[in-house]
Amino acid sequence: MKAPRIVVVGSINMDMVTTVPRFPAPGETLLGNAFSTTAGGKGSNQAVAAAKAGGDVSFIGAIGDDGFGTQLRTMLAEAGVDTELLRTVNGSTGVAAITVSANAENNIVVVAGANDTVSELTEADLAAISRADVLLCQLEIPLTTVTAAVRHAHANGTIVVLNPSPVQDVPSGLIDSVDILVVNQSEAGQLSSITDRVPYLVTTLGAAGADLRGPDGTVHSDSPLVTPVDTTGAGDAFTGAFAVEWIRHRGRALRYACAAGGLATTIHGAAASSPTRAAVENLLEGPLDSDTG
Ligand code: RIB
Repeated sequence: MKAPRIVVVGSINMDMVTTVPRFPAPGETLLGNAFSTTAGGKGSNQAVAAAKAGGDVSFIGAIGDDGFGTQLRTMLAEAGVDTELLRTVNGSTGVAAITVSANAENNIVVVAGANDTVSELTEADLAAISRADVLLCQLEIPLTTVTAAVRHAHANGTIVVLNPSPVQDVPSGLIDSVDILVVNQSEAGQLSSITDRVPYLVTTLGAAGADLRGPDGTVHSDSPLVTPVDTTGAGDAFTGAFAVEWIRHRGRALRYACAAGGLATTIHGAAASSPTRAAVENLLEGPLDSDTG
């Protein structure tokens, strides 16, 4: 099968992660367990997840001219993501300060850095979006750029998958060009006034799996039973995998993505935790055609 062509227009961060026994109270100093730096950013995480799921993935975004940027460009290339359209700009690469608690929950603070400079799309960017099967976007770069990318994709027959995270108001000019909206339960609540405007709505339910509402009704898929250690990036693993499987085999996309998201929680890190296709197939064992959607 020809690999689905996925273009991601989005963010890339260096995640600075502390693991703690519990979250500190305001004003409290707490002794943590460990610290690490690891690749992150919702756009980059989803690009890596899509590549590991078997996609032919190109990433449009920006890194700074610092050591983090160099490391992240190398990471993307090693994950099999095409970085030709990744800009290097003067200044700092985006960073995220992440705290992961003993029960696998997280708090995240993002400083956008170079991500804020992704304010224009080049002719090469637009051509890549036109050629793609799927455009995958999130909301960690300027909204005007996301809107321009989504509208261009829609006008050229490229399927648009939007993960509106971090959640913010989504203008009509953006939502009306989206084919598939992927939200968690909290985002679904905050965006309830617009979720019925998209043809397909995917709502992730954490350990309870996910729902897919389409023109023919709603289907549900469970998540695999796993022991989570870190939920950071699990939604990104789900979304990247879903985008690829929607092109490869639409009827099993939800189940495949639930497995990918579940597996991602069993490993620390964001981009690094998304599973390979082999790992997902191994977990699901056997034909995946039972789901509809
Ligand atoms: O979705 C998880 C991601 O959110 C992290 O990797 C962090 O960088 C932020 O973008």
